[in-house]
Amino acid sequence: MRKAIIVGNWKMNGTVGEAVHLVAELKSLIGDVSDVEVAVAPPFTALSAVSREIRGSNVRLCGQDVFWEKEGAYTGEISASMLKDLECHFVILGHSERRQFLGETDEWVCKKIMAALDIGIHPIVCVGESLDHRDSGRAFSIVEEQIRGCLGRLSAGDMETITIAYEPVWAIGTGKTATPEQAEEMHHKIRGILEDTFGRDTARKVRIQYGGSVTPDTIGDLMKQPDIDGALVGGASLKADSFARIVKFNEK
Ligand code: PGA
Repeated sequence: MRKAIIVGNWKMNGTVGEAVHLVAELKSLIGDVSDVEVAVAPPFTALSAVSREIRGSNVRLCGQDVFWEKEGAYTGEISASMLKDLECHFVILGHSERRQFLGETDEWVCKKIMAALDIGIHPIVCVGESLDHRDSGRAFSIVEEQIRGCLGRLSAGDMETITIAYEPVWAIGTGKTATPEQAEEMHHKIRGILEDTFGRDTARKVRIQYGGSVTPDTIGDLMKQPDIDGALVGGASLKADSFARIVKFNEK
C-alpha cells in the first residue's frame, strides 16, 4: 500500500514570521494525522525557522529546489547538504515554473536528483504538459520524455525513494483542475512507463501526486483514483485551514 502524500508548495510567498505562523496553525489543525504524509516547502529564507517549528511533529520539511554541485562558487545556489543541515526530508525538482522561467531542463533535474539522493533527501520530481501539448495530442509523449529524461538513469532502488508530481501546466494556479479521470489517465500512463523501465514491483511502490489548483473541494475525488497517491498543493497551501482540509480528505 502506498501512503498518501500531501505537500504544500509555498513558492515565493511570505516572510519568516508569516511562514512560522502558518505552519504553527497547520500543526494544530491537522493534529496527529498519521495516515497521510504531510510536508511543507517554504521559501529558502524561512526553512530554518520552519524547521525549528515542526521539530518532533508529523510535518516534514521540503526544499523548493537544489543545485547539483556540492559547494563552491555558484552564486545564489543552495546545495543538498545545506538542505540536509536544515532537516529537509524532501526537495521539489523540475517544477514547471522553473522550467518555464529559469530554463530548467530534464538534464539539470537529473543531476539535481542525483545530488539529493546522494545525501538522503527524497526528490519530488515534477512533470506535466502545457495546454499547447495537450491540445495538439502530445501530452503523453511530452510527459514520457520528461520521465525518461529525468529518471531514466536511476536504479530501481533509487526510484522507490522518489515521488513523482504530475502537474499539467494549464492547471497550475489557474483554478482549472484536471478532472479526476484526466489525471488518472496520465498517472496510469506514468506508472506504465515506470513498470516498463524499473519493473512491476518498483512501479507499484512509487507515489504519484497530482498538482494543479487542488482545493479542499477537489481533493476527495482525485484521491479516489487508483493511481493518484497525493497532491502537490500551491495556492491552497498558503492558508492553514484549506491545507488542513486537504490533508484530512479522508475525514470528509
Ligand atoms: P496550485 O500550484 O495549486 O496553485 O495550482 C500547484 C503547484 O504549482 O505545485
